[in-house]
Amino acid sequence: MAKRDRTLPRIAGSVIANRLRAAPTPGPTAATIAVYSVKGGVGKTTIAANLAWCAAELSGHRTLLWDLDAAGGSGFLYGLEPHASRQATDMFSREEAPDKLIRRTDFEGLDILPADESIRTIDATLTAIGKRKRLARLAESLGQQYQRIVLDCPPVMNELSAQVVRAADLIIVPLPPSPLSARALELVVREVADHSKRHPPILPVLSMLDMRRALHKAAREENPAWPMIPYASVVEQCAVQQRPVGAIAPQSPSAQRFISLWKAIEHKLAERRS
Ligand SMILES: Nc1ncnc2c1ncn2[C@@H]1O[C@H](COP(=O)(O)OP(=O)(O)O)[C@@H](O)[C@H]1O
Ligand SMILES: [Mg+2]
Repeated sequence: MAKRDRTLPRIAGSVIANRLRAAPTPGPTAATIAVYSVKGGVGKTTIAANLAWCAAELSGHRTLLWDLDAAGGSGFLYGLEPHASRQATDMFSREEAPDKLIRRTDFEGLDILPADESIRTIDATLTAIGKRKRLARLAESLGQQYQRIVLDCPPVMNELSAQVVRAADLIIVPLPPSPLSARALELVVREVADHSKRHPPILPVLSMLDMRRALHKAAREENPAWPMIPYASVVEQCAVQQRPVGAIAPQSPSAQRFISLWKAIEHKLAERRS
């Protein structure tokens, strides 16, 4: 029998959420969802921004989209002008809920904690502070106001990502089908295991999936249970129109895929609590 061309690894163990069922009604408990990979350009910001919209608009949760990447993509996708100030890392030094930095979006219940230039030094700030759970504590305190916090993470492996792992209830890892993405997933799985005793589950998501391409098709066949987001111009349009897919084209297959992904996340969170 010919050896199958494996495009993505099968990761053994319970950290991978591989069985998805219909989502139960979400509970009121706060949860932090990190969208993270060690790789850039894989769709993290796009997924984080769209999931935050689903959390607010579909589940009716008070939701905070927290941009931890100096590139400021999440704010941009909601049409926010970048802050001239350099205050985004102050909250880490003071451990104060950053109320004055939080901005409203056009969508009911959805707020953004934008990044600014100061985020570039966040790793050094966190290392200097020496509190391993500073980000987790801030998320906990924001959890008094928000039922869902979605972290848009930069592609790094450092003190910040270690703190993200400790703060998260669930880690979404977007993977465009490629051997490099597969390696990125292996690194994330290892990092999660290294930095957290209570492993938050990892949910890999096939992102930018183009079923016309053989490699992508093979990746889909290898991992049929993983949620997927298609490569689609309507998803690209988020950056042009500065609105999420659900607002641009609610009936599109891409919007439906984000909804399915969101339901899978809510299900995973409910499963963790029970
Ligand atoms: N599913 C998709 N289909 C088409 N384009 C996409 C899709 N997801 C992301 N993109 C585009 O790919 C680029 C990188 O996406 P982004 O979300 O910024 O990645 P990351 O945050 O991982 O760097 C952006 O130009 C974005 O518009
Ligand atoms: Mg990004």
